[in-house]
Amino acid sequence: MSFDTRILCIGAGYVGGPTMAVIADRCPHVKVTVTDINRQRIDAWNSNDLPIYEPGLDLVVGRARGRNLFFTTDVAAGIREADIIFVSVNTPTKAFGEGAGKAADLQYWEKTAREILANSERGKIVVEKSTLPVRTADAMARILNSNSRGIRFEVLSNPEFLAEGTAVRDLELPDRVLIGSEETPGGIAARRAVADIYATWVPRERVLEANVWSAELSKLTANAFLAQRISSINAMSALCEKTEADIDEVAHAIGTDSRIGPKFLKASVGFGGSCFKKDILNLVYIAESYGLHEVADYWESVVRMNEWQEARFVRTMLTNMFNTVAGKRIALLGFAFKADTGDTRESPADAVARGLLAERAHVVISDPKALANARRDLEDVTGQVEFEDDPYKAAAGAHAIAIMTEWSEYRTLDYNRIYAAMEKPAFLFDGRNILDHRALFDVGFNVFPIGKVALKHF
Ligand code: NAD
Ligand code: UDX
Repeated sequence: MSFDTRILCIGAGYVGGPTMAVIADRCPHVKVTVTDINRQRIDAWNSNDLPIYEPGLDLVVGRARGRNLFFTTDVAAGIREADIIFVSVNTPTKAFGEGAGKAADLQYWEKTAREILANSERGKIVVEKSTLPVRTADAMARILNSNSRGIRFEVLSNPEFLAEGTAVRDLELPDRVLIGSEETPGGIAARRAVADIYATWVPRERVLEANVWSAELSKLTANAFLAQRISSINAMSALCEKTEADIDEVAHAIGTDSRIGPKFLKASVGFGGSCFKKDILNLVYIAESYGLHEVADYWESVVRMNEWQEARFVRTMLTNMFNTVAGKRIALLGFAFKADTGDTRESPADAVARGLLAERAHVVISDPKALANARRDLEDVTGQVEFEDDPYKAAAGAHAIAIMTEWSEYRTLDYNRIYAAMEKPAFLFDGRNILDHRALFDVGFNVFPIGKVALKHF
């Protein structure tokens, strides 16, 4: 089969895999190759057991793989052949040196820039898909265009806005696609070429073009605003618990104001995921590096509020269980950072599990998709934690259960059966406000929602 464009994606993770699978599915005329240094991951992408769980992804991959979608560890060959290279490698928070704990660690990203340069025999469009500090494209362009062979690269920013658990839908029906480039004829032509690919299935008016710095900063801004809404509603949840107001009623009342809107107002034990904390801290670091300390403090408070909410959840458990959980079996239902994913990065369940372990509780973790990741995350406390697929077994003999992830199956568990098998008094902490609290109280539980009056039998 002949293809009119060849795309390579470097990084076959939660973003690179699904994004490229959807491009390949929607654009049979484009050859899409996805590459990674992690052979195990590539092998999994080539198998029926994909390396990430994402609803609908297996169907998309199944339609395109072997036709115009390929997964390989041969980065160099992929680079040589490609017209457009998406870079979708991880950009975690730096753990060492200058900016440790806040700045983005750009080592993986810079390595790819050098690999692209070493293996290119002609000019290419290089697209930042990873979330990067504003002005990174400038550094990438300087590395790439520093060659003495006269090869010219155009560096674009095309940040990804997908959310895990809904990645396929977000990619197939995006609110917008954002493509930034230098405002030069070459830059504009390059961003049009990438825009044309998206326009195969995304309405033109949703493909936004911008200057490259705006595109980079828009991604950090979007995540900061989304996380800020959660920290705002969580801050109000603490006040609701003191005042007998109900956080869901407050969220509904403010969300019907069209200026505020209803989404992202669900109070919870805290936000998790690989992006929000990392990207806000990156924004904080950038603001600090420009001497904008008030801006940095403002955004850092979003992360601090989230950490406080997680710690507050553990405190609520402790104080209501007679100020001691030592030796008590506590079942955490859910370890994924949200429903419909197996991803546990920065999951609030991790913080809660560790908070309970510090109080010497006997923690049992259950999750329909994330137990393998949970085991890996809690390796350092192996022996102190139990992992159990079956939520009924996890809850048997427990003093308390806590909903950590809003998996739909947790809404329909047989709570009479669970209650009967638990120690009494039985406690239920709903960290996601997904259950019918009054009905559970009637079953016999002492129920502690987020941002609502607790329902206690004593
Ligand atoms: P990930 O860790 O799942 O995947 C990154 C992959 O890149 C890994 O498999 C790693 O082995 C590979 N890699 C690293 N260096 C490489 C190299 N030199 N050559 C080839 N492969 C290499 O990360 P992710 O969640 O997919 O995130 C990737 C980027 O996208 C990050 O910048 C992230 O902030 C951003 N992002 C993530 C999400 C999300 O929901 N996860 C959403 C939007 C944006
Ligand atoms: C986020 C952004 O939504 C996405 O645009 C970006 O590309 C990557 O980061 P993701 O982290 O995958 O996506 O999931 P998201 O749906 O944003 O949820 C993040 C966390 O916030 C989860 O822990 C979720 O449970 C929590 N959350 C979300 C709430 O606690 N309340 C809400 O109202 C919404």
